[in-house]
Amino acid sequence: MNMKDTGVPDVFPRVAVLGAGTMGAGIAQVCAQAGSSVVLQDVADDLVQKGLGRVRDFLQKGVDKGKTTPNQRDAVLSRITTTTDRRAAARDAHLVIEAVPEKLELKNELFRELGSATSPACVLASNTSSLSLARVFAGVAGQARCIGMHFFNPVPLMALLEVVRTDASSQHTIDAVLAFGKALGKEPILVKDSPGFASSRLGVCLGLEAIRMLESGVATAEDIDKAMVLGYGHPMGPLKLTDLVGLDVRLAIADYLRKELDHPGFDAPGLMRRMVAEGRLGKKSGQGFYRW
Ligand code: CAA
Repeated sequence: MNMKDTGVPDVFPRVAVLGAGTMGAGIAQVCAQAGSSVVLQDVADDLVQKGLGRVRDFLQKGVDKGKTTPNQRDAVLSRITTTTDRRAAARDAHLVIEAVPEKLELKNELFRELGSATSPACVLASNTSSLSLARVFAGVAGQARCIGMHFFNPVPLMALLEVVRTDASSQHTIDAVLAFGKALGKEPILVKDSPGFASSRLGVCLGLEAIRMLESGVATAEDIDKAMVLGYGHPMGPLKLTDLVGLDVRLAIADYLRKELDHPGFDAPGLMRRMVAEGRLGKKSGQGFYRW
């Protein structure tokens, strides 16, 4: 695990993370591990405390496993402060990373507000997994500093950072974010703003096809997953991963990509729609393709 005890990354010593859910908490943790001071914000204090609790639990598990020292745990936690005030969180930040729910209007409104609430040099990043960044940043003041930083769950363990450049992102912004990604211990890839970027476009397509195969009786869920785990070296099969991400989340991305890419490969299978309508959403509801 990349974890500095002292010093701060040259690029972004002060980071604000907006949204303290699974992704926001993980992003706050890796930024603090790299030495940045982090303000973690959400709309209600119980949400922020829950996010901070996730970081604390992950670090404690690291201590229990012998991967993290108690001093490292305490140092990381000491670098994270919390607030429910979005403007206050962003005011002194060198980098703001947004990790709020995947709703275009919500993200666009947030960035329009940040355009004027941050210093003109502050980099504004979205963790969206598939929404058009041109639309997420529409109308934002100073779009040269706007960029996508797409992290993967669980953030502290996953090596990939998908950096998504828009037509307006400056080279300076791109270089700074790529350098910061490396300081976080991630392997950044650079992708153009396009529907689903590189990771969601391929990942969702595979997941949908696996559901179609299950629906038409090609094999059991376990065996379809095994085909990818043992045959292709994936750490987890596409159906199990869909359970982990949430069927509702993946259905929304599939519908969006179907419309944007005009490609029948993104047609959501009937089985998926039925499961979502019945509340079989995967791990979070206790039942998906697997029982959790
Ligand atoms: N602190 C420190 N280290 C820890 C830790 C902790 N709290 N918890 C686990 N680790 C370490 C382990 O010690 C282990 O290290 P070694 O390899 O050195 O032994 C390593 O992390 C892996 O942990 P585990 O062995 O416990 O677990 P695992 O082998 O099952 O791997 C995983 C966990 C990496 C998450 C793996 O299950 C995996 O790759 N899953 C797929 C996840 C995935 O595909 N995510 C993408 C989701 S899609 C997304 O996020 C995009 C989107 O927009 C929706």
